[in-house]
Amino acid sequence: VTDPAIIKLRTPESDEAGTRVRVLGRVHRARAQKDVVFITLTDGYGYLQCVLTDARRAPPKQHAPNDRELHADFFEIIGKAAGDKEAITTRVAPDADPQTLYDNRHLVLRGETSSSVMKVRAATLRAFRKAFEETRMLEVTPPAMVQTQVEGGSTLFGFDYYGENAYLTQSSQLYLETCLPSLGDVYCVCPSFRAEKSLTRRHLSEYTHIEAELDFITFTDLLDHLEDVICRVIDYTLAEPEIAGYIKQLNPDFKPPSRPFRRMKYDDAIQWLIEHEIPNEEGQPHQFGDDIAEAAERRMTDIINQPIFLTHFPANIKAFYMKKAPEDRRVTESVDVLMPGVGEIVGGSMRMDDWDELMAAYKHEGMDPSPYYWYTDQRKYGTSPHGGYGLGLERFLAWLCARYTVRDCSLYPRYTGRCTP
Ligand code: 4AD
Ligand code: MG
Repeated sequence: VTDPAIIKLRTPESDEAGTRVRVLGRVHRARAQKDVVFITLTDGYGYLQCVLTDARRAPPKQHAPNDRELHADFFEIIGKAAGDKEAITTRVAPDADPQTLYDNRHLVLRGETSSSVMKVRAATLRAFRKAFEETRMLEVTPPAMVQTQVEGGSTLFGFDYYGENAYLTQSSQLYLETCLPSLGDVYCVCPSFRAEKSLTRRHLSEYTHIEAELDFITFTDLLDHLEDVICRVIDYTLAEPEIAGYIKQLNPDFKPPSRPFRRMKYDDAIQWLIEHEIPNEEGQPHQFGDDIAEAAERRMTDIINQPIFLTHFPANIKAFYMKKAPEDRRVTESVDVLMPGVGEIVGGSMRMDDWDELMAAYKHEGMDPSPYYWYTDQRKYGTSPHGGYGLGLERFLAWLCARYTVRDCSLYPRYTGRCTP
């Protein structure tokens, strides 16, 4: 008999009963009985139950995942595992020390839970790109090394750039805005960096930022677009049966959100927080002008338990570039998308498109506009009403896959105190 071809565990031909196959993979689990050894083999594509027994004897009946089982009459070990860290890869004990797990992230990733999250992550990225491409948006890749800030100087990572000060980018927004006249609506999927001082379950130092910028739109167009993209991404992700299966395992209660999303103005959210006796960071009742901190935001989102578009934040708590609402100049045409279990997953706004107003905003913030000439020129050479947003992929996944922390939605998480492995 000639050697059968090597199969990958996801390929359909491996489903055919009675086929003689050759499989390469890693032992995920092994269990020995008197005359027989059961092995779950994985090759990163799928899992296969194998029965190692004397081929002349019928193997015992046993329920196999996907109702397929390999009866092995020959096997060879390619590379033996040291065996001291098995528990990390297959069964993570609920009381396992998180730092040990992050130190061993390269092995934890082999586990069923972590690898499922990474597969959902890849499918989500595919879905975002598909949704953007369908609306004829163009993907660009702005630089990560910059000399300007977007979201406030306090969270900048600085470094020496041939003797000049430079930073790791916090957001590609300003660069996306510069692309509108030449490329039309654009998006990017790039890392963003934040020197966050706080250790929370939703802050990373490096995260994957999905950002989009749309030209000639109104604030309502921006909200409609966001709702549409989020819903389409969920539809496309669930349309892949294998991925839908992982989501079901990770988040059994997941239901795609119903449209339209609830739209709530910041001012109404403050009233809501007062009525529900949820205090601000100082332990006082909320007032107009307060930042809605993570704890309060999370409680509100969990009680309402559906996606919320929180809009019209006061200018004093938002970034310098946000456009003021024409009907109430105290507030901005801004939006945060909040999801149950996580809180903010998106931040977006309309942008100041008037040169004089933008210059006044720089002055108000005490920022020197000259390093931003390439950004402010947008207003000088043919301005337009435009807006956009940024979505944190790990936060989106923490919501979709019901993970306690965004750290588990990143391949190799970076957060305060961790830059390894
Ligand atoms: O709200 P942010 O800071 O908004 C911006 O950066 C805008 N310039 C985006 C834009 O309009 N193009 O960040 C956007 C999103 C947040 O809603 C959150 O999901 C995510 O990025 N994010 C983080 N995710 C993980 N760790 C952090 N430290 C994050 N900071 C922001
Ligand atoms: Mg934000």
